[in-house]
Amino acid sequence: MNEMMSSSLLYSQHLKYIFQKRLEKILVHRVFSHPFFSYLRDLSKRGMTAKQFYIYRDNYLFRTFNTIPSLSYVLIKAAHHCDFRTLASVGRNLYEETGGGISKESHSFLLDHSHNTHGEIVFCLESLPLKNIHQSSVILDETYYFVEEQQKLYTSSHYGEVLGAMFGQEMAADSMLRVFYQTLFLPYKRYYSDGKFEDVQEYFLCHLNGVEARHGQDAREAAFRFCQNEQDVEIVLKATNAFLDIQASLWDGLLMTFFESANDGVFVPVMFTNETLHNVSSISYPKLG
Ligand SMILES: [Fe+2]
Repeated sequence: MNEMMSSSLLYSQHLKYIFQKRLEKILVHRVFSHPFFSYLRDLSKRGMTAKQFYIYRDNYLFRTFNTIPSLSYVLIKAAHHCDFRTLASVGRNLYEETGGGISKESHSFLLDHSHNTHGEIVFCLESLPLKNIHQSSVILDETYYFVEEQQKLYTSSHYGEVLGAMFGQEMAADSMLRVFYQTLFLPYKRYYSDGKFEDVQEYFLCHLNGVEARHGQDAREAAFRFCQNEQDVEIVLKATNAFLDIQASLWDGLLMTFFESANDGVFVPVMFTNETLHNVSSISYPKLG
C-alpha cells in the first residue's frame, strides 16, 4: 500500500515537473511582450487620435463581451465532471465578474461604463453600449477571429481543452489590463473635472487589486489538476497556447490599425499629473510553483 502511495506521489511530482517545464515555454509567448504594448507606452507620452481610441474601444469591448459566457461554459463543464474544486474557484470568479450581487459592480457594466465615458469625455466620441457592440463598423477581422476561436476552445468537448483555454485567458489578462489602464486611461485623468475618473478607473482597479492575479493562479491549478498523464499536459497547455495565439493575433491587428490611424482625425494630447504612471514593467504572471 505504502509502495503504491509513494509511486503515485512520485508520478504526480513528475507530472508537476513536466507541466512546469512546458509552461516555461508558454510564459515567453510573444503576447506578453507584444509590440502593441510598447506602442501604447510610446503614445502615452504624447497622446493619440480619437480614431485610435475609437478602434481600441470597440475592439476591446467586442473581444471582452464573451468573458462571462466563456466562464459559464467552464462552470457547466466542471459541474458535469464533478470537479468540485474547479467548480468552487470558477464559481467565485463568476461571482466577482457578475458584481457579487450588485449590478453596477459587474465587470460587464464597469467595462461598458469606463470605456464609453472615457471616449465621450476625452475623445468626444459617441457612446456605443456594450449590448450593441456587434453594430460597430470598426471591428477588425482579427477580433472576429478571436471571438470565433475563443468560442471553439470554450465549447470543446474535451474538458482539458476548456481548462487550458481559461488558463490562457486568465494568464494574459493581468498584464493587458495594467498596460491599458496605465497608457490609455491614467494619462488622460486631467480631462475629468469631478470625481468621474474614480468611477471610470474602477473597471481596472477591481482587477488589478490582486483579483486577476488570483484568477490566473486558480486557473493554473485547475488546469494542472486535470492532468493525469503527460498526454493530458500536452492537450491542456496546447489549448492555453492556442488562446495566447489568438490574443496575440488580435494585438497584431490593432497595432497595424493604430499605425494606419495615427494621423486620422483629431489628436488628443495627454495631460500629465504627478501621479501619472508610465511604468508598466511590473507585469505579473502566475507563479510556476
Ligand atoms: Fe473581469
